[in-house]
Amino acid sequence: MSNDLWTAVDLYLNQTLLGPDLVLDAALEANAAGGLPAIDVAPNQGKFLCLLAQIAGARRILEIGTLGGYSTTWLARALPPDGHLVTLELDPKHAEVALSNIARAGFSSLVELRLGPALDSLAQLHSEHVQPFDLIFIDADKPSYADYLHAALKLSRPGTVILADNVVRDGLIINADSTDPAVLGARHFLQALAAEPRLSSAALQTVGSKGHDGFALARVLTP
Ligand code: SAH
Ligand code: DHB
Ligand code: MG
Repeated sequence: MSNDLWTAVDLYLNQTLLGPDLVLDAALEANAAGGLPAIDVAPNQGKFLCLLAQIAGARRILEIGTLGGYSTTWLARALPPDGHLVTLELDPKHAEVALSNIARAGFSSLVELRLGPALDSLAQLHSEHVQPFDLIFIDADKPSYADYLHAALKLSRPGTVILADNVVRDGLIINADSTDPAVLGARHFLQALAAEPRLSSAALQTVGSKGHDGFALARVLTP
């Protein structure tokens, strides 16, 4: 019942503030046609990520978990013409659909997709001594979030913004006895944020067309 209201409010907010978006509609259609799960961020969440990246002045963005490139496209929209976005994806089918969606959106020259387990790609990026990222969005397999955080820190500078999706999971994260791997992953991740003196962190619940969930937001204080 609440979900219907949350969805109706999202529809109203998005019709009011976002307007039509043929490119992202086409991406969601291609995702569905390709059999990808509809677990992309919601449209208003995507625009929120885009605005946060712009507020941070992000020129280099790292995304962990591409799916069909829906959030990738919102984040790429925040970049200047010489910006760069690296997105990491394990599933070759997801990557194929994402690359097509990113091309349709006109961002092929800004976006680099690295295929494979994200932890391997993160270690590879570190070994390449790439420039630090300005914003890092964690949205892949939930049990690995704490590991992604520690790898992300190695690719950060003071001021880097770290965001993580799905840290509330219908509120199930308050159950300390949960055996749900995604809940355990989110709880472990939140503990890792709290234990990290180099980060200042907060988390926010969200309700809407994607249910009850939440984002964590952290800022890197020192290298
Ligand atoms: N950010 C996307 C949604 C990502 S869904 C959006 O909002 O549009 C999570 C993605 O993480 C899936 O595509 C899944 O295949 C990928 N994934 C899962 N485990 C992974 C791993 N170990 N390394 C990289 N990607 C992984
Ligand atoms: C799942 C993953 C997501 O990134 C998301 O936003 C919602 C659900 C999942 O794996 O269930
Ligand atoms: Mg997510």
